[in-house]
Amino acid sequence: MEKLIIHGGKCLNGTVKISGAKNSVLPILASSLLSSDQIIIGNVPHLQDVTTTISLLTEMGAHSSIDEKMRVTIDSSSIRNFFAPYEMVKTMRASILVLGPLLAHYGEAKVSLPGGCAIGSRPVNLHLEGLKSMGAKINVEEGYIIAKAKKLKGTTINLSISSVTGTENLMMAATLAEGKTIINNAAKEPEVVDLANCLRLMGADISGDGTSSITINGVSNLSGCSYNVLPDRIETGTYLVAATITGGNVTLKNTKPETLKTIIRKLEDVGAEVETTEDTIKISSDKENLRSVDLETSPYPKFPTDMQAQFITLNSVSKGRSRVTESVFENRFMHVQELVRMGADIDVKGNKATIKGVKKLVGANVMATDLRASASLILAGLVADGKTIVDRIYHIDRGYECIEEKLTQLGAVIKRVPQ
Ligand code: UD1
Repeated sequence: MEKLIIHGGKCLNGTVKISGAKNSVLPILASSLLSSDQIIIGNVPHLQDVTTTISLLTEMGAHSSIDEKMRVTIDSSSIRNFFAPYEMVKTMRASILVLGPLLAHYGEAKVSLPGGCAIGSRPVNLHLEGLKSMGAKINVEEGYIIAKAKKLKGTTINLSISSVTGTENLMMAATLAEGKTIINNAAKEPEVVDLANCLRLMGADISGDGTSSITINGVSNLSGCSYNVLPDRIETGTYLVAATITGGNVTLKNTKPETLKTIIRKLEDVGAEVETTEDTIKISSDKENLRSVDLETSPYPKFPTDMQAQFITLNSVSKGRSRVTESVFENRFMHVQELVRMGADIDVKGNKATIKGVKKLVGANVMATDLRASASLILAGLVADGKTIVDRIYHIDRGYECIEEKLTQLGAVIKRVPQ
């Protein structure tokens, strides 16, 4: 298993280009199953989760190609089986996103139930209940969701939790259903809007995305399209924290500051200076004068759970005492014990972490447990005294494109080594 070795203490400076959003490209790839025409997707990040999704689609019979600009073409006209096996779903929960499109276009799907997950139980009951209310017959047999529907029917779905992939799955299913579907308490994340923008280009009739009520009028078929994925706001946020925590001066280009308002406000509270244009963010800070901030994770537009781990690292070396509340997932503090091994002073009770800022962290051997936890440990390594070795970095490759190249470009001393 590969590891990352980081020699901390370098201040990050320079410019880095942000990649396309992981959480946009995955549902957009799945949406290709709704059409028998070619879908061409641009700004695709080179990530393990993207490779897994493309493999899943090709296993089903789709044809795919990638050009030198990482533009992916998917042709789903030759889909032969409607099956997402456990071996793939267990490595990437977002595989569940093929369920709605398969059911809506082909009338059947067999998709493995995602198992437990390092950050919480993460059930998919809302996806299944929504599809059932649209007329699907769904059984769970031997760990698989077996779904059938001659033709899905539009209805009103009131989500009890505004699930992101739940909203996306149901929105995709509703594009080809008979009549009108209204999804209430829908997720408002920018990635939901990005998917809706792509589906509209394919001919879907969707309105209200980005608000808590989405209306979809079903159409008889969807065509192909060419679409560029939104920049990744979590990758952006992670580099913003990297610049702040090291007292750097960094410009991020090809990003979308409008999707990061809450994160930018928190970084300004910490003491960073931030300037934005429509697609760049410039950030600088004085690392001796960082003040820790309280925060609570919540659905968009509030503070994202996918940035919680990175802010815990930032708070660990900022002045004062702070409280971080995790309100989206029940077990998302796995990074804390590893940070404590590096000298952080953090106490977790239930879904709250109390952090007392320390003067310095010290490099150590640490273990990544999930995607964003890995990012928080790399950030800690960047600022710690001495050498940090981050193990199990396959998690980071699921969501951060070329992270060590990008950090090296900014002046960090980081390298990947085999086991
Ligand atoms: C998506 C993101 C993930 C992010 C999360 C929250 C993708 C591919 N992943 O995950 O990066 O951390 O949103 O912003 O976009 N829940 C249920 N029943 C369901 C579905 C969800 O109880 O059927 C609960 C979950 O356990 C969790 C909460 O709802 O507590 C929110 O989860 P959800 O928005 O569904 O997360 P994902 O879509 O899996």
